Amino acid sequence: MFIYTRPKPIHMVNLAILISGRGSNMEAILRTVKKKKIPIKPAVVISNKPDAKGLKVAQKLGVKTAIVDSTGLKGGSWEYDQKLVSLLEENNVTPKNGLICLAGFMRIMSPEFIKKYQGRIINIHPAILPAFPGLHSQRQAIEHGVKYSGCTVHFVDEGVDTGPIILQAIVKVKDGDTEESLSKRILEQEHRIYPKAVRLFAEGRIKTRGRKTVTS
Ligand code: GRF
Repeated sequence: MFIYTRPKPIHMVNLAILISGRGSNMEAILRTVKKKKIPIKPAVVISNKPDAKGLKVAQKLGVKTAIVDSTGLKGGSWEYDQKLVSLLEENNVTPKNGLICLAGFMRIMSPEFIKKYQGRIINIHPAILPAFPGLHSQRQAIEHGVKYSGCTVHFVDEGVDTGPIILQAIVKVKDGDTEESLSKRILEQEHRIYPKAVRLFAEGRIKTRGRKTVTS
């Protein structure tokens, strides 16, 4: 009898999650890891806002947290991102073994940071990219009158929400939807596909060819 077992990655991936607020996507990922559904080690949750609600949630789930306050530092600055790099290295999240999940992290990363961790930074966006990048995507979708929207997990490159797409989920826009009601239904899908994408990464099942990704 032939029994196929997926080969385990030689090194366990070390996970850092970057947040700025509520952290519900972070929570979805950490809970899935806890259920042993993702072979990854949650190393640290980092917030750029000292009062981010998600910090307490992470602590309750037994994950180390840290704050790198970005007050007064412009988005995209290497000065700020260097502090992140030091903290990531202290927690053994490196360009060789790390995965950095942006989960509502409201800062643009510097080109230096992106280059350093190339192919190891992923983000969730509440729209079907390339439609409605940037802020207030759900509002943009409603104002544009689209019939379907959704969410996208993608690798982070130097553009805003432009990196190679890993997973997407579709949500129907209903007549009478408000920004809030649509956001709520999209968020349910975010909580489903973000942990799934993290698992695919941790199991070494995402291959990237230029703009395209193939998952196995
Ligand atoms: C989510 O809608 C995510 O798509 C966007 O920011 C929001 C973060 O929510 N990037 P949460 O902090 O994960 O609850």
